[in-house]
Amino acid sequence: MIKIAPSILSADFTKLGDEIKSIQSADYLHFDVMDGVFVPNISIGLPVLSSVRKITGMTIDIHLMITSPARYVAQFAQAGGDIIVLHVEAETPENILVAIEDAKKLGKKAGLSIKPNTPVEALFPYLSECDMVLVMTVEPGFSGQKFIASTLPKISELRRIIDDRGFTCELEVDGGINVETAKLCIDAGANVLAAGNDIFSSHDRAKRIAELRALQNHKLQITNHKW
Ligand code: DX5
Ligand code: ZN
Repeated sequence: MIKIAPSILSADFTKLGDEIKSIQSADYLHFDVMDGVFVPNISIGLPVLSSVRKITGMTIDIHLMITSPARYVAQFAQAGGDIIVLHVEAETPENILVAIEDAKKLGKKAGLSIKPNTPVEALFPYLSECDMVLVMTVEPGFSGQKFIASTLPKISELRRIIDDRGFTCELEVDGGINVETAKLCIDAGANVLAAGNDIFSSHDRAKRIAELRALQNHKLQITNHKW
């Protein structure tokens, strides 16, 4: 099933409660955390997460774009995150394993992300422990960027490995996702679409979420065609 994760980085923060209501038909709420060091932008963090947790029952997908993220995984889990995703580029192998364990000890899901120029091999040692892998389809840091098509082979390769080895992790893409680029990602094997600009700039956000989710049918057509 294709799942939709609107990124609230593109929301109007003066009315965040209403903005979240407008996307509540989605599967996950994508929550981008940036520290101005790992990426050249600063966004939102723990106090905003605690407030958001109080007003929605949505599954919150935390995307940590911060240095040494293992230090903060437990805090983001306790503040209401449901799936805690950190970047492999930002941590040591030992701390990545500790971070995954920290999330799971608190009953949460754990995931890992790679930037567009990071090879998929960087994820291999951890795939059996991951609930989510997130392939960045733009350089992390800002919403509204253009989709980088050279990331598609990485998505295909991950899908092949996940299926061949029977791993259970979801495969999320993030950055420059719209109906056209979503099709490419779904064909390559992604099943979770994070989208900020495309959803929040739509007049009817529920309709846009439904349109993106309906690309599941596109996937079925492709699959039937192959058979
Ligand atoms: C970028 C963030 C994305 C971003 C996506 O670094 O991780 O989640 O908000 O925004 P769009 O969909 O506008 O590219
Ligand atoms: Zn993100």
